[in-house]
Amino acid sequence: MKILILNGPNLNLLGEREPEVYGSESLHDVTRWLLDQPVAQGHRLFFYQSNHEGDLIDFMQAHRRTADAMIINPGGLTHTSIALRDAISGCQIPTVEVHLSDVHAREDFRKTSMITDVCRTQIAGQGKNGYLTALQLLVDH
Ligand code: DQA
Repeated sequence: MKILILNGPNLNLLGEREPEVYGSESLHDVTRWLLDQPVAQGHRLFFYQSNHEGDLIDFMQAHRRTADAMIINPGGLTHTSIALRDAISGCQIPTVEVHLSDVHAREDFRKTSMITDVCRTQIAGQGKNGYLTALQLLVDH
């Protein structure tokens, strides 16, 4: 399977940014760790991070005819972006939404996601394991 793994704004600062919330590993560490997991073997994982909404949408659209599945952590765009939601439903790539932190146990504005109902499911509060759970789910499906 060809699987896209997208990370949105500020996730490039993983490890530095609020480590008590998001953990002390960098996005590169998490990427390497995920690539080493048995479930990733035999699949093609394409990682992309951007701080820009349109870049995330362009990436998704560019791969829409060839990707089998997608994992996305849209960062703060989760709570605001109708454009990202439209891209996910428009590209028709089976998608799982992931958040490192438990967005339901934080500020009220984080409880709203613009994308959950166009995704297979939302995984939140598992730290980096959320990406692994999502990968397992998409590969099994
Ligand atoms: C996040 C949660 C969002 O509310 C926040 O804006 C992020 C990261 C998470 O992974 O927990 O940037 O998506």
